[in-house]
Amino acid sequence: MTEHIKIANDGGILSLTMARPDKKNALTNAMYGALADAIEAAETDPAVRVVLIRGEGDMFTAGNDVGEFAAIAAGNVQGERHVSRFLQSLARSSRPLVAAVQGRAVGIGTTMLLHCDLVVLADNALLSTPFVSLALVPEAASSLLMPLRIGYARAYEMFALGEAVDAGSALAWGLANRVVPLDKLDSEARALAARLAKQPAGAVSTTKRLMRNPEVLMAQILAESEQFAARLKTVEAREAFTAFAERRPPDFLKLAKQPA
Ligand code: COA
Repeated sequence: MTEHIKIANDGGILSLTMARPDKKNALTNAMYGALADAIEAAETDPAVRVVLIRGEGDMFTAGNDVGEFAAIAAGNVQGERHVSRFLQSLARSSRPLVAAVQGRAVGIGTTMLLHCDLVVLADNALLSTPFVSLALVPEAASSLLMPLRIGYARAYEMFALGEAVDAGSALAWGLANRVVPLDKLDSEARALAARLAKQPAGAVSTTKRLMRNPEVLMAQILAESEQFAARLKTVEAREAFTAFAERRPPDFLKLAKQPA
């Protein structure tokens, strides 16, 4: 349990709210655990017809907690890591997943959107996947899903250069269904979720199953996780996390003579 994920069921719409606004909703292990528990439980709960993912405050989420990345890299973390369970719950969910995104969606904040079935963006949304800038690699099956969705050229640039994509481009590229004014984000996302909730649940989930193959996604997630875990331990990653903690840009060129 964590106070940083708020859960509420309103008329069959289960809303999962990332609620750590002072840290820009950066996702901790406990938050992944709470999200995974809720999405897994929704699978067998007839009272849940749609899952709505949202964030409190001025941004959707700044992605994985970088301090936790650094702690894992230093070998200072014990116990179960819930992120893989969270990714699995997304990939296997038969319930429609709807996302409401304002401000930045960094890293897993953007890659989780590839598993959502309807994505509503506020006009100030900025999507980015700066894994390489952190000396890491894409996750959440995004190395498969992103190029499929937006084409190799755009996907490679998003991953390798890490620059943010604005709401208009995200819509044009097929990363989202709607762009709405920020003050309408919640109502528009809920209205869409409510429309989905009224549709026949069996046909909705079977359609999703025909469109998304969880086994293919899980195989990609596994392959990525192995590489991700290996990259976390590199000197490149140590430099990236130290730079974040010291609020300075990383200097990867100085590592040129050390093993990657
Ligand atoms: N992990 C841990 N803490 C984070 C975080 C993250 N991913 N993102 C933001 N925070 C924390 C900051 O350290 C800061 O904490 P402090 O107030 O104790 O110093 C607080 O949240 C506010 O962040 P700040 O950077 O001041 O906000 P901003 O609006 O200027 O910038 C971002 C927002 C998202 C652009 C910036 O915080 C950022 O780049 N975060 C890292 C994103 C990232 O690389 N995520 C991992 C992707 S794989």
